[in-house]
Amino acid sequence: MKKVFPIAALVFAAAIISFAFKMNPQDEPAGKQIFIDSKCTTCHSVQSAGIVKGKKDLSEIGNTLTAEQLTNYLTKKEKINDKLHMVAFKGDEKQLAQLTEWLASLKSEQKQ
Ligand code: HEC
Repeated sequence: MKKVFPIAALVFAAAIISFAFKMNPQDEPAGKQIFIDSKCTTCHSVQSAGIVKGKKDLSEIGNTLTAEQLTNYLTKKEKINDKLHMVAFKGDEKQLAQLTEWLASLKSEQKQ
């Protein structure tokens, strides 16, 4: 039993990870859903991903900011243009990581 556990844990972890990343590959990226669920769309659009609601477009935000900078900005640890973001992200760390990863992937040459 002692030897089986780490393998079972690994298989379990791998299953969860592949589930999280590969579930409906043609479906929306997790970060996009979090963006919508977090109501970022009240103030922002991401035209390249079909989000047209908000005013300030983030379609090419990955050109200028890394996931790490986005993480700090959205948790109000870092300023951009001398200002903190208006609202702090309210989800958990994993959601923040998925969100910022998705945002950082939004670059001008890569249209979805
Ligand atoms: C109440 C309105 C509001 C909401 C809600 C909001 N933002 Fe913002 N956001 C702003 C404003 C205002 C700015 C600064 C705009 C500017 O630089 O012109 C900004 C800037 C940003 C920037 C930097 C843009 C740049 O070009 O430097 C990012 C990234 C961003 N927001 C992401 C998010 C995310 C992700 C969410 C959801 C968790 C969110 N915002 C929710 C108002 C909002």
